[in-house]
Amino acid sequence: MNMTSTQRTSEQRPSVAVIGAGAAGMLFAGACAELSRGRLRLTVYEKNRQPGRKLAITGKGRCNLTNACPPEEFFRHVPGNPRFLYSAVNAFPPSETMALFERLGVPLEVQRGRRVFPKSERAYDVVDALRAYAERGAEVRYSSPVSAVGRTEDGGFFVESGGGRERFDALVLACGGLSYPLTGSTGDGFRFARALGHTVTPLSPSLVPVEARDRALCASMMGLTLKNVVLTVRPDGGGKPLFSELGEMLFTHFGVSGPLVLSASAAMRGRDVSSLTAEIDLKPALDEKTLDARLLSDLAAQQNRDLRNVLAGLLPAKMTEPFARTAGLDPKKKANAVTRGERARLLACLKRFPLPLARLRPIEEATVTAGGVPVKELDPRTMESRLLPGLYIIGEMIDCDACTGGYNLQIAFSTAQAAARAVAASPGAPDAALLLKGKKGEKKTMKPHILIAIDGPSGAGKSSLAKLVAKKLDLLYIDTGALYRSVGYFMLRRGVDPSDAAAVTALLPELDIRLSAGKDAMRVTVCGEDVGDRIRTPEVSAAASKVSAIPAVRAFLLETQKETARKSSVIMDGRDIGTVILPEAKTKIFLTASPEARAKRRWLQLKEQGVETTVEELIEQQKERDRRDREREVAPAVPAPDAVVLDNSDLTLEETAEEVLKLVRQNESLA
Ligand code: DC
Repeated sequence: MNMTSTQRTSEQRPSVAVIGAGAAGMLFAGACAELSRGRLRLTVYEKNRQPGRKLAITGKGRCNLTNACPPEEFFRHVPGNPRFLYSAVNAFPPSETMALFERLGVPLEVQRGRRVFPKSERAYDVVDALRAYAERGAEVRYSSPVSAVGRTEDGGFFVESGGGRERFDALVLACGGLSYPLTGSTGDGFRFARALGHTVTPLSPSLVPVEARDRALCASMMGLTLKNVVLTVRPDGGGKPLFSELGEMLFTHFGVSGPLVLSASAAMRGRDVSSLTAEIDLKPALDEKTLDARLLSDLAAQQNRDLRNVLAGLLPAKMTEPFARTAGLDPKKKANAVTRGERARLLACLKRFPLPLARLRPIEEATVTAGGVPVKELDPRTMESRLLPGLYIIGEMIDCDACTGGYNLQIAFSTAQAAARAVAASPGAPDAALLLKGKKGEKKTMKPHILIAIDGPSGAGKSSLAKLVAKKLDLLYIDTGALYRSVGYFMLRRGVDPSDAAAVTALLPELDIRLSAGKDAMRVTVCGEDVGDRIRTPEVSAAASKVSAIPAVRAFLLETQKETARKSSVIMDGRDIGTVILPEAKTKIFLTASPEARAKRRWLQLKEQGVETTVEELIEQQKERDRRDREREVAPAVPAPDAVVLDNSDLTLEETAEEVLKLVRQNESLA
């Protein structure tokens, strides 16, 4: 978030505008207020008189708010851009959504297919809880349609509503898609995103009912619900199925709908629906042989009755006549007149009732919108625009969508939470800013000089953590291991044995190491050569470990490290940061993880690189290296007395970073 204080008058807090009080917008407002502990001024614009209009009608008014599946399974139900969601959904998975709602006073219940509903089965309980959560920390302005948004000259944003224009430091678009326009989802958000420089991929309906070629057939069964049937969709005339699942569906005046059909519609995306046929297995529990025997005995037992009456023992009454006709038989035909060939047709129809399809219903009837702001234009960890810092896009506006079952709302919640965390921790937000008295007595925002030291054994994830925290707090990340690696690399290049202290020391005056900020990581130049990944080989690792035990090498690198920290706010990782390099750092972390956890992570990395090892072997190496690092005389890798020991064996990177941010906030007294 870009923080300039020039236009702020009475209200000194950085300001954030949210457009849309739907599932994503409300959760964002509540979570962001909570995480920033009231240090941000949050304003939500909602064009309706009430929040959550669409949320209130989902799941037939019962609100299937998430799916109680583990995160790794989640992505299998996301046909549209699952990778983009990895970070957000792992950081805030369904279990977190459930915990949140329970905490907000909505008892939940997990039903068939792991769908999660409020115990009361009233969607309004979910809406009310979210509303209270949002209103606790944000000003929600109802009946306030936004007519335009844009940038201000000082790098902020303006929002126009009701003829007035207001300035904000950050802007969150949570306007929903195009589906169910009566609820307010009319696509305004896409107009705003475009006005701010984003593109929008073509919008199409997903999770939408489907029209059948024979509308009259479906109309004759209108309102009939089929439970526990298997719906399979494949190209006309056979071929590989696009979809096949067990569930519930229903007939309408135009075709078919219900959960199974909505899910199937997602699988038909981009296909010519008029060349697809749905087949319904009306008796999935019975194989053909058993079913044929059953037909035979039913027909024999009721020889003089009409076929439609005999079928009533197998099918819902409303279906018997259309069923017989579809099988090419007169419903009034007597049972004893049904030939063997006709029985085979009945059997085929029971297992594969054919329903040639025509088209998807229009986007207005879709549960969700496929398409939207392309995922490559957003940062998957924060939902921040890659084009315009300070702009966040969450929920259904993103070009991501999932099957029915609560997955889509979970996407809204996870993306909202990701943005809330980022906004609450973004540089310039009060997390990293201190309000100081300026010369003329006006308040001025200034960034404090922050130093963070991360030490710990190899493989604990120090550098990933440091990089993430650096990004969140806008600090410079210094990888001190890379400095030792560079020394090792240089010695190898010059043919010097890295454990020969005298020879290494003698060569140091010729060594020139420079650091610069690269795109993602720090760049290191050794005597004019950008060393890149050449310092990441096992030989260089071994050499680095040896030279790092030589006092002259440590002294040689000490000043470079201290100098960087004097000039900028930094986060440094290594083995002696909290003790020697930055003893004055207010936040010191000793990051560790069990040798098993570290070896497992390393094993996965190596496997990706195609290197064959065993976890056991890596555990042994890890333990040996830990022992050497801990027991060496020079700069043993031990926690500084005032360091916080953080074991991340069971934490995700995001969670670990969250812990660090908490400490930084406390330590820098940024309340
Ligand atoms: O973290 P790393 O594996 O890239 O570090 C390379 C070597 O340098 C490793 O053997 C530990 C050593 N090192 C050190 O002694 N002090 C530091 N501050 C950083 C790294």
